Formats: sequence, C-alpha cells, structure tokens
Amino acid sequence: MDLSTTYLGFRLPHPFLPGASPLVDDLDTVRRLEDAGAAALVMHSLFEEQIAREQVAVARYLDAPSDSFAEALTYLPNPESFALGPEEYLEQIHKLKAAVSIPVIASLNGSTDGGWLGYSRLMEHAGADALELNVYALATDFDVSSEMIERRTLHMLEAIKNSIGIPVAVKLSPFYTSLPHFARRLAERGADGLVLFNRFYQPDIDVETLEVAPTLRLSDSAELLLRLRWLAILSGRLDTSLAVTGGVHTSLDAVKAIMAGADAIQLVSTLLRHGPEQLAALRRDLALWLEEHEYDSLEQMKGSMNLQRCPNPAAHERANYMTILQSWWG
Ligand SMILES: Cc1cc2nc3c(=O)[nH]c(=O)nc-3n(C[C@H](O)[C@H](O)[C@H](O)COP(=O)(O)O)c2cc1C
Repeated sequence: MDLSTTYLGFRLPHPFLPGASPLVDDLDTVRRLEDAGAAALVMHSLFEEQIAREQVAVARYLDAPSDSFAEALTYLPNPESFALGPEEYLEQIHKLKAAVSIPVIASLNGSTDGGWLGYSRLMEHAGADALELNVYALATDFDVSSEMIERRTLHMLEAIKNSIGIPVAVKLSPFYTSLPHFARRLAERGADGLVLFNRFYQPDIDVETLEVAPTLRLSDSAELLLRLRWLAILSGRLDTSLAVTGGVHTSLDAVKAIMAGADAIQLVSTLLRHGPEQLAALRRDLALWLEEHEYDSLEQMKGSMNLQRCPNPAAHERANYMTILQSWWG
C-alpha cells in the first residue's frame, strides 16, 4: 500500500513521526524509532528563556545587560530542569544527524519576538532539516488584544523565515478567536506547515495544601476530535502542510486524521506508553485498513472528509450543534 505523503516539502514514506518530546534525548531510543520506521523526528523544544538566559550571561560578561532578557531570567526554572542547554541542544542535532538518515526537525518554544529567535540559524547550521516554532503563551494581560498576540506570532515567524532557508512549521494552540484567518496569515507569511494542536498543561489545585499542582497527563483518543474539526476546516484551503498532534493512539485515529486532511501524524503519548515499536504497528494497521477498504493509496483518502467543498461550514457546525443537543431526548 502506498502510504507516502508530503510534509514540509519532504516526501515521506508514510505519515507517522514522533512529535516533540524527550524521546529524542536518548540515541538508543532514536535508533529504535528509526528501526520502527519513523518518517522523521521532532526534537523537544529549546525554550526562549533558556536562550535568553545564555544571552544575558554574555551581555553581563560584556557589561551590557539587556532589560528584557534580564526580566526573562527571573521566571526561568533552574537550568537542571532542562535535559539540554542551548549548546547541548545544537550538539544533539549533530548527533541525531549522524545517527539517523531521516529528517530531523528542531523545535523552538517561545512567546515573544526577540533576539532569541536568531538561534534558529544555529539550529540550521547544526544540521536541522526543518524547524518547528512552538508558540506556547497564555493570554493573561487585560491590555493585550487577540490581534496583538497574533501579530507577535507573525513577527516571530517572519524573523525566523528571514534568517533561515529550511522549512518552518508553526505549532499552534486551539485558542484563537478566528483560527482560519490567523492560519491564512501564517501561510501567507511563509509557514511551511501548521501543527495542530499544542496541549496546554492545566494545573490542578491541591485543596489540602493550598498549592497549585502541575499535572502531566498523557492524552487519549478523545483529544483527537478537536483536531479533526480544525483539520477539516483548514484542509484544502491553505498553501501549507498540516500535521496533527494530540490524541492519535490507534490506526483508526490515524485514518480519521488523514480523512480530515492531515499530511503528517505526530505521536507522543502512545510512544511514551507503548514504546517506539508502536509506530511500526500503527503503520502496518493503517496499511491494512486502507487495503480492506479498497483504497489505492493514502493520498486517495487524504482530505476526503474535509469541509473544502462545504458552502457554509459555520452553518454546518451550528446544525450539528443543535442536532447534538436535541439528541439527548432521542
Ligand atoms: C513529556 C512530554 C514532553 C513534551 N515536550 C514538548 C516540547 O518540548 N515541545 C513541544 O512542542 N511539545 C512537547 N510536548 C507535546 C507533544 O509534542 C504533543 O504535542 C502532545 O503530547 C500531544 O500529542 P500526543 O497526544 O500524541 O501526546 C511534550 C509532551 C510530553 C508528554
């Protein structure tokens, strides 16, 4: 079965790749991922604050401290909590490139436009084949509008696109007032791909200790539904690749994501739970499913359930909404 797909301009033998996570920190695991057939690798993110801290250190050394970076410093978790510092991250790109022959996608995580974005060039020089910009920011400022937040991200993308030649994907959260409009602006500014969606880790409250308890919960298939909706709305309407991240655990999840319009499928929770070999199982089961359902190729199925030809997706969504509420009595 021909499972090939194109993502960020790379012709891949199939759509499955490990998404950003600590899986790529260990070279043995990385080799197991390649043995399992991973189509590419996404590294975990290097954080804006890590880079800013290093730049502050240099600025201090040169006796020219920078206020904005100095401020960033005060929020930074201690360096030991990061698996790799900025220099080590670049070395890890070198090591990964030497260890595997599949595309290596580096990841930058941040929320503000600034000098730290220049690190993208070092990542390219270190051998990264593409870059994922993970925009992870919570809008908490009453004076900041949604337009200001979107413009900031567009500037970040522009800064990166102006300094490197490798493809750039933007990993988004689902929380935008008008995602199609923003997605189109990102595509127009040169985003080679959009990755849907980041998960926001939602802290809980411990009512006995009166502390905020951070929780790291792996996903389940229920999280895919939000992604399916937005893939279906965006697919076929933008000149950019689409990857899904979040909630793909079974081959049927993958079928749905492809039908909704995903070009690539990033896996994290299922690989953390079942190991790298799960990727091979998903690939095999996807091929079987396509054969059983008499498809000739993955491309034939891709986007078959998107809303590209739907004349009024908003009315369609409202009709579904009303029908679902009424179904309670049915
Ligand atoms: C332990 C862990 C570490 C992660 N680290 C990153 C990261 O550094 N950068 C990033 O963009 N996403 C990171 N993610 C998010 C994943 O890339 C992915 O988007 C999310 O887990 C949803 O996919 P899943 O349902 O397959 O787990 C991390 C997730 C986990 C569980």
